[in-house]
Amino acid sequence: MTNGQLNENFELVLNSALHKTDASGSILFGDSLALLPLFNNKSVDYSFTSPPYNRKRNDKYRDFTDINENWFQLNIDILNQLLRVTKKHIFYNIQANYYNRQDVYKLIGLFSKNIVDIHIWEKSNPMPASGKNITNAVEYFLILGNESLKSNTTYTKNIITTSVNSNMPKEHKAVMKTDIAEHFISKFTNENDIILDCFFGYGTTGVVAKELNRFFIGIEKEKSYYDMSVERCGFNIISAN
Ligand SMILES: C[S@@+](CC[C@H](N)C(=O)[O-])C[C@H]1O[C@@H](n2cnc3c(N)ncnc32)[C@H](O)[C@@H]1O
Repeated sequence: MTNGQLNENFELVLNSALHKTDASGSILFGDSLALLPLFNNKSVDYSFTSPPYNRKRNDKYRDFTDINENWFQLNIDILNQLLRVTKKHIFYNIQANYYNRQDVYKLIGLFSKNIVDIHIWEKSNPMPASGKNITNAVEYFLILGNESLKSNTTYTKNIITTSVNSNMPKEHKAVMKTDIAEHFISKFTNENDIILDCFFGYGTTGVVAKELNRFFIGIEKEKSYYDMSVERCGFNIISAN
């Protein structure tokens, strides 16, 4: 796959959205609910993404309001689109918190036929809960697809333990840790694959895909985060509109 072929594949999408493209991939500015329907069926190899948490508190983002009455439906619509556009597996990072956990468990039930595994991210230094409340020290990676998941290396476990991300910009405090993206992208995808992240944020998927010689497509709906991710991905721009 060359960058030219990549652009051809996504012509309709690129023509419809503000975007920046370089030899490693494209970053699109827009709402994934509007842009994903423009993608061709099975046009990306993998999806790797983290939807907003719906924490009902605005303590993570400067420019995005993490309160969504339609959060359950947002996830259903996005997952259905990702199942349509993704050839192999979808890695969907989700945290069950006090506000969203009923929705998370319902989503697992609703997509149970597509879920081939659930991997756990265990945080070695989570924010402790007060008193006798239980400290939430895990996030899930729902892995959806048609085939069972195989690793590129032997003895891969369905759990990864690392510390929480302490290196985030003040504007966005929900940035994926680079070592977690590296774990999933290196173990479960291959060089030259196209990896889609429809909640691109500060662009960790792009940074890691580039470093591991994968192509990527990111979609982000907040202009400031889109701009920050373009800069963080070190784009040497070939095309933009
Ligand atoms: C949990 S963060 C993702 C962080 C990202 N993995 C990173 O490493 O920076 C979720 C992001 O999704 C964006 N977002 C929320 N709803 C969206 C939508 N409908 N379409 C595109 N982006 C959206 C938010 O602005 C936020 O930056």
